[in-house]
Amino acid sequence: MSDLKINMNNFEEVKKSLNSKSLRVCVIGIGRIGLPTALSFAKSGLQTIGVDINENLVQDINSKKFPLKDEPGYENIFHDVLEKKLFSATTKIADAVNNSDLILLSLPTPMDENNIPDYSALIIVGSQLSEILNPNSLVIVESTIEPGFIEDEMISLISKSGRLKIEDNFSIGVCPENANPGEILHDFTNLPRLVGGINQNITKIITMIYKYVFSVELIEMENCKTANAVKLTTNVFRDINIAFVSELALMFEKLGIDTMKVLEAAKAKYNFQVHYPGAGVGGPCLPINSYQLLNTARRTGTKLSIIESGRMINESMPDHVIKLTCDAFNEYKKPIKNSKILVMGISYKPNVKDIQLTPAKEIIEKFQNLGSLVHIYDPFFSSTEIFGLKVEDNFEDMPEMDAVVIVTGHDEFKRIEIDSFLKMKSKILIDTRGIIDPISIKNKNLIFRGLGRGDF
Ligand SMILES: NC(=O)c1ccc[n+]([C@@H]2O[C@H](COP(=O)([O-])OP(=O)(O)OC[C@H]3O[C@@H](n4cnc5c(N)ncnc54)[C@H](O)[C@@H]3O)[C@@H](O)[C@H]2O)c1
Repeated sequence: MSDLKINMNNFEEVKKSLNSKSLRVCVIGIGRIGLPTALSFAKSGLQTIGVDINENLVQDINSKKFPLKDEPGYENIFHDVLEKKLFSATTKIADAVNNSDLILLSLPTPMDENNIPDYSALIIVGSQLSEILNPNSLVIVESTIEPGFIEDEMISLISKSGRLKIEDNFSIGVCPENANPGEILHDFTNLPRLVGGINQNITKIITMIYKYVFSVELIEMENCKTANAVKLTTNVFRDINIAFVSELALMFEKLGIDTMKVLEAAKAKYNFQVHYPGAGVGGPCLPINSYQLLNTARRTGTKLSIIESGRMINESMPDHVIKLTCDAFNEYKKPIKNSKILVMGISYKPNVKDIQLTPAKEIIEKFQNLGSLVHIYDPFFSSTEIFGLKVEDNFEDMPEMDAVVIVTGHDEFKRIEIDSFLKMKSKILIDTRGIIDPISIKNKNLIFRGLGRGDF
């Protein structure tokens, strides 16, 4: 065990170690969030090591290949800290932890096929820490976890071997991550962060460390579970509100009301927070965070019926996309079977290269089940193969297509001239993200369906 000099439980010692840049940091899990986190710590001058079980990722990093090309601003930082030898990566967790004072966990917290949260990565690493963590270290969990996970599970996992006792010779806290993929540098340098420690002293120490690295507002919470509750509350708020406007959009469509116009005007009211309807809600956060709170409700014998309904609505939106498309084919008097459909956008949200839990997958499968031949175009995935389909390089194949279905509102799609869609064989255009102004297709020879846009 390395001869650590810093007692991470001691405010003054940690302060000194920051000033002298002698505090050593280990980030376990260097994916979408963990790598930018590790780079931020290294950029502040602290010796940082990233640990990951993904050997290719570790190898790429150590051979100076930046893996997060769609995260603006980090590539230069990456090369700079590698050059200065402030950052490296490894698969050897024991060595890395042994040579560190501060351990950050940025491990995945996905869910299984039954929508049950899967904390296995944290459980595995928690058990490993029980054997390898140096006394007087500080562990900070950045992963999104349910309120109570630290208090009820993580502490006993780390204490399992009997070497370590919480508040006696190790400490723990949370700093749940709020950043958006594609905007992480912006978010890390602008968004306030939540901090919760196992006691007030640890909360203060974590705040001091994060202030040193990120210089953003730090919001100190009473404890870990309250900080995690805030993180989930903010994301689930979005999931529910998207469900709310999506359900309204289904009704407004029938009434011939343009939901986008409704929302535009509603925004003018001081206490209205706008959310937009769409083809479904994906990504690594919102759906999972709702199921995390539903799991907490199950554990505590509570019912969270609004979240349950919100999930049901958001998960039904791909079916509505299929319905809109089938309606349009009916109007054109052409069977959808054997038709060629171009799905535009497969990312779960605009302007990022990320297909985690994307509704596009379900939409594509449903079209295929109806016998359509699906093509996909997404500027973030050009020339790769996704969902068993080659992603088109451009829309040169448009004349071959019977229908175009816009599933993701990438900025690039907003710039497409409406007349480009007229090149299509059957001229059916479905917009699930409110990016085509219905006025612009008036008097054009297009059969148009806009999700939540009424009849045009
Ligand atoms: N991606 C986001 O937009 C986002 C935003 C806010 C919060 N979060 C939360 O941050 C956490 C991390 O998410 P992410 O998107 O960075 O995930 P990710 O999958 O991109 O990265 C996780 C990394 O952990 C590694 N890993 C898995 N098991 C490991 C183990 N046992 N030991 C070492 N490494 C291991 C994986 O190989 C991967 O590189 C999650 O809890 C997520 O909910 C994510």
